[in-house]
Amino acid sequence: MKKVLITGSNGLLGQKIVELLSHTLYGLNLVSLESRSVFDEEILPYDQLDLTKRQDVRKVVDSFEPDIIVNTAAVTDVDLCEKERGLAWQVNVGSVENLAYAAKLVGAKIIHISTDYVFDGNNGPYTESDRPNPISYYGRTKLASENVLLTSDVPSAILRTMVLYGCGIGIKQNFALWLYNNLSEKKPVKVVDDQIGNPTLVDDLALAILKIIELNKTGIYNIAGKDIVSRYDFALSLANVFSFNKKLITPVKSSIFKQPAPRPLNSGLIILKAQTELNLSMSGIERGITIFKNQLETINAQNSDRR
Ligand SMILES: NC(=O)c1ccc[n+]([C@@H]2O[C@H](COP(=O)([O-])OP(=O)(O)OC[C@H]3O[C@@H](n4cnc5c(N)ncnc54)[C@H](OP(=O)(O)O)[C@@H]3O)[C@@H](O)[C@H]2O)c1
Repeated sequence: MKKVLITGSNGLLGQKIVELLSHTLYGLNLVSLESRSVFDEEILPYDQLDLTKRQDVRKVVDSFEPDIIVNTAAVTDVDLCEKERGLAWQVNVGSVENLAYAAKLVGAKIIHISTDYVFDGNNGPYTESDRPNPISYYGRTKLASENVLLTSDVPSAILRTMVLYGCGIGIKQNFALWLYNNLSEKKPVKVVDDQIGNPTLVDDLALAILKIIELNKTGIYNIAGKDIVSRYDFALSLANVFSFNKKLITPVKSSIFKQPAPRPLNSGLIILKAQTELNLSMSGIERGITIFKNQLETINAQNSDRR
């Protein structure tokens, strides 16, 4: 039985990949920063692990001896990365160095998650072979993390994705959840119409990771939703699927927000390689938002049953 170590298992993507792999025959070990797992630790073994601590990483990897490490852990708050550069580098790059070091000792392969923020957003959408040029510190750390793996002799697959959305237990707000939380309470939102890309249902990315494992692929893959749209168009589609009032959504330009980290504007990822080599069918926004809505309704029903 192959063994898979999943880092960031309490995060949005981490939870989805755990849910998916727990229905397969892979042996799992979960690790994340918090003291407790969001999953039942009797069924899915869990270690609290700060990936920036090399010896701790080595200890966990040495004792579990994974065949594959799926690394979803990162500091994902783009503006925080711009301000807390030391932390961003330590986690987003240092952790990958630590994992590569430990993986080499046990002969494990690493599947790592990267981002469209490695590009400047001047002329997207991008293929896997386009030249990166990050404009934010987060983007620089993620590009550096890719380079750690590409220059190591550890076999690796790097999955670039963007604008992840989905549900999970105690997860941070994502774009779709933020829209849902506001629009369901009839609160008006300002949404940028000059940031273009492919919003990605996190469940689809988890499935892509499973395919990468099963087909034993290495190298860089763009994994993102089928449709390339503006954030504003995504918000209108979400309002449509949920029957929220579209008049609550006002289109604005990114420049009004004065965010610390610049965003790639004309971005997007071309997913032809993944569609062809992995036979992946990534959801477009209508389908993705409908799945998201069904998941939210299930969670809300479970919560009201418990009350
Ligand atoms: N979200 C997006 O839109 C997006 C877009 C493109 C690429 N990505 C990439 O996709 C991956 C998954 O993103 P996500 O949205 O699932 O992120 P997330 O929900 O923020 O999860 C990341 C997890 O990593 C953990 N973590 C942070 N620092 C750690 C450390 N030092 N040691 C161990 N664990 C640590 C976090 O713990 P805490 O919660 O306690 O900090 C969190 O559980 C990341 O690599 C991200 O860069 C995300």
